[in-house]
Amino acid sequence: MESTNIIRIDGKEYEFISGDTILDAARRNGIDIPTLCFMKGASPTGACRVCLVEVEGARTLVASCAMPAAPKMVVKTETERVLNARRMNLEMLISSGHHNCLDQDPDMDTRVDLQSRSMASAEHRDICPAYGDCRLQELAIRYQVTGNRFEPRDSRYPIENVNPFIIRDLSRCILCGRCVQACNEIQVNNAISYGYRGSISKIVAKGDRALKDSDCVFCGECVQACPVGALITFGDFEAKGRPKGETNLVRTTCSYCGVGCQMYLHVRDGRVVKVTGIEGLGPNYGRLCVKGRFGYDFIHDPERLKTPLIRTSGGGFREATWDEALGLIADRLYEIKKESGPDSIGVLSSARITNEENYLAQKLARAVIGTNNVDHCARL
Ligand code: FES
Repeated sequence: MESTNIIRIDGKEYEFISGDTILDAARRNGIDIPTLCFMKGASPTGACRVCLVEVEGARTLVASCAMPAAPKMVVKTETERVLNARRMNLEMLISSGHHNCLDQDPDMDTRVDLQSRSMASAEHRDICPAYGDCRLQELAIRYQVTGNRFEPRDSRYPIENVNPFIIRDLSRCILCGRCVQACNEIQVNNAISYGYRGSISKIVAKGDRALKDSDCVFCGECVQACPVGALITFGDFEAKGRPKGETNLVRTTCSYCGVGCQMYLHVRDGRVVKVTGIEGLGPNYGRLCVKGRFGYDFIHDPERLKTPLIRTSGGGFREATWDEALGLIADRLYEIKKESGPDSIGVLSSARITNEENYLAQKLARAVIGTNNVDHCARL
């Protein structure tokens, strides 16, 4: 039977799946509609109006991320009217806050020039830490928006940096709501929401308190979701003004537990400066917990143990090689087993190692030592 779920986008017919929005149908067929507030996996808010498209028969432009696709719908994604509306919305978003990245000259050249101009400008000394990694800036450049059409609003909010993980600069917030969706719908922590109304609307935590005094668990999902420089980590802050190209992304598996979350280490000058989850990849699909996202300072800690230590007869420790340490452990286990039998030995495994390593630990206990005394820290 012929499908009735046919939509016409930019003059061509495409099949869509029931429940698709116009954006889903377009993206599945390789048509690029820009988005800013849209977040995969969360319900659409239609807050930014960047994804506007023209739908035949509709009186106004519609937000493609929120409008369900319908049979025989005729959609145009790149008309003059659509482009002008996107441009206007971007201009309003830029002037709604402290976005100095577009402190530009119409015949702008390189990002480095822009950056230098921004840094040199007396009123915008503090270049945004998200410079070069900001969705709003990226769209502004794509749509050649300068940001100076409307008078920018004064910064009304001081920077909140009273916790060790997340810096909040609400003067750069565009109220796209992605952080709220990340917190409430993706991580289901329900720590932040919209507060106040109209022009004084802002994102608040527990009746407008600092994050550290709220229900926030500092998973940092909101930071990963923020498309601008309103939510950043201390690593971003230290790197402000530095080109994104100076940071290498290294894909790895989180070492904090056996779940195996996939993450990117952001490495600059040989040091890990930030960690982000990898979107679209299991088992975590971009999500991380506070340990995975922020617990990386041990890597470069000067006190970190790098070699095994063997206790000396005087009660202190001395450094040893791995071969020496493992040899000593094997000898001692052998002696204990010989003296008191294998069941005098127990093996305690850990949630901090992988499933495979846990398997090997029980193999060591059962097959090598000969005991079923195996347990795991999760039960302790
Ligand atoms: Fe659709 Fe923001 S992406 S309204």
